[in-house]
Amino acid sequence: MCGIVAYIGPKQAYPILIKGLHRLEYRGYDSAGIALLNGDLNLYKCKGKVSDLEDHVKDLNLHGTIGIAHTRWATHGEPNDENAHPHFSQSRKLAIIHNGIIENYASLKKELINRGYQFSSNTDTEVLIHLIEDIQVNEKVNLVEALQIALNQVIGAYAIVIISKDDPDTLIVAKKGSPLVIGIGEGEYFVASDATPIVEYTKKVVYLGEEEIAIIRRNCDLKIKTILNKDKTPYIQKLEMQLSALEKEGFEHFMLKEIYEQPRSINDSMRGRLNIEKGIISLGGIIDYEQKIVNANRIIIVACGTSWHAGLVGEYVFEDLARIPVEVEYASEFRYRHPVIYENDVVIAISQSGETADTLAAIQLAKSKGATIIGICNVVGSSIARATDAGSYTHAGPEIGVASTKAFTAQVTLLTLMALMIAHKKGSISKSRYHQILNELAAIPEKVAIALKVNDQVKIIAEKFKDARNFLYLGRGYNFPVALEGALKLKEISYIHAEGYPAAEMKHGPIALIDEEMPVVVIATNKGTYEKVISNIQEVKARKGKIIAIVTEGDVSVKELADYVIEIPETEELLVPLIATIPLQLLSYHIAVLRGCNVDQPRNLAKSVTVE
Ligand code: AGP
Repeated sequence: MCGIVAYIGPKQAYPILIKGLHRLEYRGYDSAGIALLNGDLNLYKCKGKVSDLEDHVKDLNLHGTIGIAHTRWATHGEPNDENAHPHFSQSRKLAIIHNGIIENYASLKKELINRGYQFSSNTDTEVLIHLIEDIQVNEKVNLVEALQIALNQVIGAYAIVIISKDDPDTLIVAKKGSPLVIGIGEGEYFVASDATPIVEYTKKVVYLGEEEIAIIRRNCDLKIKTILNKDKTPYIQKLEMQLSALEKEGFEHFMLKEIYEQPRSINDSMRGRLNIEKGIISLGGIIDYEQKIVNANRIIIVACGTSWHAGLVGEYVFEDLARIPVEVEYASEFRYRHPVIYENDVVIAISQSGETADTLAAIQLAKSKGATIIGICNVVGSSIARATDAGSYTHAGPEIGVASTKAFTAQVTLLTLMALMIAHKKGSISKSRYHQILNELAAIPEKVAIALKVNDQVKIIAEKFKDARNFLYLGRGYNFPVALEGALKLKEISYIHAEGYPAAEMKHGPIALIDEEMPVVVIATNKGTYEKVISNIQEVKARKGKIIAIVTEGDVSVKELADYVIEIPETEELLVPLIATIPLQLLSYHIAVLRGCNVDQPRNLAKSVTVE
C-alpha cells in the first residue's frame, strides 16, 4: 500500500508534493521519490522516509509546476534507491508512480528484455512504464492510447500517474483496484491515493472509477475515459471529512480501519499466488525451498504474540494437510532454552514488523545450527526478512494499530497457502480435497466481509461486558489459537485480564473461576469437536458463567445455551480461524473504546518490540 501524489497548476509543485507525501506516510514509508517537469524531466528518489528525501534534495533548486511523488511500501523489490518510485521509461521521457501490484509483470518483463529493454530496478512498476513506451513507439500511438493498450495487457491492481517530457501540460492518471482521488482547485489539479494531501487545497474531488483513465490538462478541463476508450463524465463530489478522519478513511481508529481492511488484505495476501482455474499455488519467494520443506522431518515455527498465535494455526494446518511434524515456539524461550535443532529442520519465522528482537535472535540461533529459515513478514526488506533464506511477504499493507489484526489473518492465509502447496506436492491430500480447500480459500475475503456485518451486534454485547474484570476465551482444534488471539486482543487494548484455553482444559482448573461475573467467549463453530464444545458450554452454564458464543450461521444447539450468539459464515474447518477472529477483534475494539482506552496506542505497548 504506497502513497502517490501529483500536482499540475500555477504554483511550484515541490512544496505541495512533499507535504502530500508526509500526509500519506501512514500508507508506506520505506522509500520515497519525486519527479518535476520544467523543460527537463528531473527525478529524485532515495531509500528511507519522506524526511530522508527532503534531506536528499535540500540543496537543489527544485522548479516545476507539474510533478509526481511517491512514498513506497515495497511489494516487489527491496526498499532501496533503485526500487523507489518514480520510475523513468527507457528514453527517460516518461516518469511513472504506482500504487498496486502488477501480477503478470514477470512475463511482461521477459518480453521487454527480449526486445532490448534494460531495467534499473526489480519493480513491477518499471515494467509498466517500459511497456507503455514500447507500445507508444512501435504502434505509433499517443500516450493515452498506449496506456489503454498496456492496461488491457496488465493483470493486477494500479493507481498510476504518468508525466511526459513531451507534454508538460498534462497529467495522465489511471486506476484499478487501488484508491485514487483527483482534487479540482482553481486552475489547478491534485491527484493522490486518498484525500489527505488534497483537503487543505480543495474540497471538490473526483474518485476515479475502476479501469478509468483521467487526462488532466493545465488550465483546462478534466477528461475521463475507460481503458476501452469509452468517455465518462466526471462525477464531482464535495469532501466532508476533516484531515485526521481522512487518514483513517472515516474510521475512528486505525485498528478499526485495519479490521475492515481484511477482505482486501486477505485477498492481497493471495494475489498472484492462487490460480483457481489451474489449481495452482505459487509462492515465488520460497520456490527454491519447496522440496526442502517437503523433505523436512520437522518444522519449527518461531514468533511472538499474535504472530505466535498465527503460528499455532500453522502447526495445525501443516500437520493436518502436509503430515509434517510441527512445533511452535515462543521466540523468547526458544533462543535461550538450548533447543535441539537439526540441519534438516525448517524454521518458519513469523513477524508483522520483521523487527522483533526475540524472533530475530531465534533465527540466528537456528541458522547457526544449519537449519533452513523461511520468513513470513509484512514489512519488505525488514531485518527478519533479510535474515531468512527465503520467504513470502503477507502484503497486508502498513499496520498502524499496535493491536495486530489484518496481519494475523494475512499470516494465517499465507501459512495455509504454504501448507496446502506442500501437501499437494507431497500427495498427502487427495486432489479433490486440495481443490475443495483452494476454492474455499478464494471465497474467504467475501466471507470475512459478511462476518464484519456483526459489528453492531458486537457493539451491544461490548456495552454489557465493558466493566468485566476477567474474561475466559475457549476454543478447540483450529479454534484454540483463535481463543488465545481473542484473549490477547482484549487484554492489550482494554486492559481487562483475559485468558485463552483449550475448551477441554476447563476441567483441569479454569472451571474454578466460573461464576456469574465471568464472561466466557466460546468459539463453537459446527466443525470438528463441536459436540464436545457444547458439553463445555453446558459446564460453564451450570456454574452461571455468561456465555458469548461464536457459531456457524444457522446454528440452533448453541443458541439454546448461550447468553449471546454471534453467527459467522460456514467454511472449511481449517479456514475457520480467518473468520472466527473477526467478531473477537470487534469485541475487543468496542470494549476498549467504551472504556476510553487509547485503542491505537495502548499503554506500555509498542508496535514493534525491537528490544529483549
Ligand atoms: C499483537 O496484537 C501485539 N501487537 C504483539 O503481540 C505482536 O504480535 C508481537 O509483538 C509480535 O510482533 P511481530 O509480529 O511484529 O513480530
